[in-house]
Amino acid sequence: MKNPTLNNSSKTYLEEKRGSSKISPSKEGKIRFDLAEGLWEKSDLASLPDRTSSKLKDKLSNFLNLDSSNLSIHAGADEIIEIIPRMYLDRDDRVIVIVPTFDRLLATNKKVGAEVINFELSATKNFRFEDEEYQNLEVAIKSKKPKIIWMCTPNNPTGQIIDLQFIDKIAGESPDILIVVDEAYQEYSSLNPKESAVSLLSKHNNLLVIRSFSKAFALAGARVGCAISNPEMISKIENFRTMFNVSTSAQRMGIKSLTQSKINYVEDKISKIHNQMIRFVSKIKSLSNYELIEDSKTNFIFIRHKSKDLFEELYKRGLAVSDWRFAPGVIGKGYVRISINTPSLNTKILDILEKIN
Ligand SMILES: Cc1ncc(COP(=O)(O)O)c(C=O)c1O
Repeated sequence: MKNPTLNNSSKTYLEEKRGSSKISPSKEGKIRFDLAEGLWEKSDLASLPDRTSSKLKDKLSNFLNLDSSNLSIHAGADEIIEIIPRMYLDRDDRVIVIVPTFDRLLATNKKVGAEVINFELSATKNFRFEDEEYQNLEVAIKSKKPKIIWMCTPNNPTGQIIDLQFIDKIAGESPDILIVVDEAYQEYSSLNPKESAVSLLSKHNNLLVIRSFSKAFALAGARVGCAISNPEMISKIENFRTMFNVSTSAQRMGIKSLTQSKINYVEDKISKIHNQMIRFVSKIKSLSNYELIEDSKTNFIFIRHKSKDLFEELYKRGLAVSDWRFAPGVIGKGYVRISINTPSLNTKILDILEKIN
């Protein structure tokens, strides 16, 4: 067979290719390359992250008034919610989840083959957890013998909080059950650690609190979350995570968001949201066809229309909200979750809700 040649020269195609690789990049290209390399080497992203997120832990322990041995930093609260079932559960173990709530609190248990028992709160009682619910939960604990009880407070999507006295009693009466309290939205309710389940850690070794930088600190894209518990539990969790689970940039952003000026900024933002929430709720209450879950301690409301499919109605008008029509605990009830936004966007949403009414 004839050698493939180029331009009728005597060189083979391969020789021609090899020759061309000697051609150096254009001057402009080389300068660009040198610049990129220089920048890269100067940035601290050339090195691996601090594998213990120690500076972020220091800041956070200050913020939460705890020791850094109580903290494990993760790539979002999600990472912790994934790790816990893998650490604690075997196939067919049972867990109780207080619903309706954030879907991952159910799904990650199912992934490891555990049985999820939904403890349903009642819409007629505004999805509140009170004495009656506490007593019913105690009955469920005795009969189902769960290994973990998952609760979210303030709860996504209802915005309700579970009073600390109940968390205290549940943890105290079931010392062999892990009580996981997801406080991803806690800052909207209070920045004071005394008003968080972290204040109960010294009393209960079976308590694990989860926090996130994705909500009030608005760092969802950075992926930073925190598991908070006793040092023994924390070191077990640390053994389960990957070694460099939180990137250098994410750690840096977490540290920055805990400086006093940023905390002041977050506080200010939360108070603006509260004001907008008051305006939002009072307008909705004037519209007769909505059922609103009142007293949300977060930055969203949980709502349904008495006769229309609210998700569809909003979607038709260009608004995509969080869809809870098929969620455990509220299946078929037509609830959606709507976030409180900037004043002008809130006006638009309220106008649309008025038209749908
Ligand atoms: C209640 C709750 N917990 C945890 C998470 C996960 O947060 P992160 O972004 O920190 O993984 C979310 C996110 O929506 C949430 O709503």
